[in-house]
Amino acid sequence: MKVINVLGSPRKKGTSARIAKSFTDAADGFGAQVDNFYLNGMDYSGCQACEQCHSKLNHCVLIDDLTVVLNEMRTADVVVFSSPVYMGDVSGQFKQFLDRTWSHVNVDHGNDGAFTSRVPKGKTAIFILCQVDVEKRHTDIVERYTELFELFGYDLRVIRATGLTSGAPDGDVSTAQRQAIELAHELFKNS
Ligand SMILES: Cc1cc2nc3c(=O)[nH]c(=O)nc-3n(C[C@H](O)[C@H](O)[C@H](O)COP(=O)(O)O)c2cc1C
Repeated sequence: MKVINVLGSPRKKGTSARIAKSFTDAADGFGAQVDNFYLNGMDYSGCQACEQCHSKLNHCVLIDDLTVVLNEMRTADVVVFSSPVYMGDVSGQFKQFLDRTWSHVNVDHGNDGAFTSRVPKGKTAIFILCQVDVEKRHTDIVERYTELFELFGYDLRVIRATGLTSGAPDGDVSTAQRQAIELAHELFKNS
């Protein structure tokens, strides 16, 4: 089983990265192949709206550090997306990556008006979000990106750590880490 771990926080050992690591360490223990992508250390552009992914190609025309991530999204069995909440949304690094996934969408949709996905169905995605605010805040982020992740056909699992302390990358996220480990067991125990 192949796992890609797309890290949206600039903090390599921050709250979201540590929750993601709990999952990938457990997956590794079950023999999964894990590829880590630390977006903040990568050189990539935002979507240029050239639409060549819809007029000429079935992938993004840009060749940069995101190319491998976008390619692996089509082949991985499990995708881990993690981000801190920044200004009521995902981080800019993560949003810029997400915009490039426009190249995974077919816009010549069918009669029902819905876009379809170029990502093969049957994959699982884990969406990890960390925030300082209380749990009831920023549920709109989950709703918004769930719509996109469901378009990609993912069986989506969400793990949130809320009420964290600002400026504390080493804050306690043990409950979310346990959830991540339990999820890895659920997904990989029969692999
Ligand atoms: C630029 C910036 C904007 C932030 N905006 C919010 C916010 O709107 N709501 C919130 O709850 N926390 C906000 N935070 C706090 C982070 O979401 C929180 O510290 C989170 O644990 C960081 O995750 P990380 O350790 O994985 O980077 C913000 C932090 C920064 C640096």
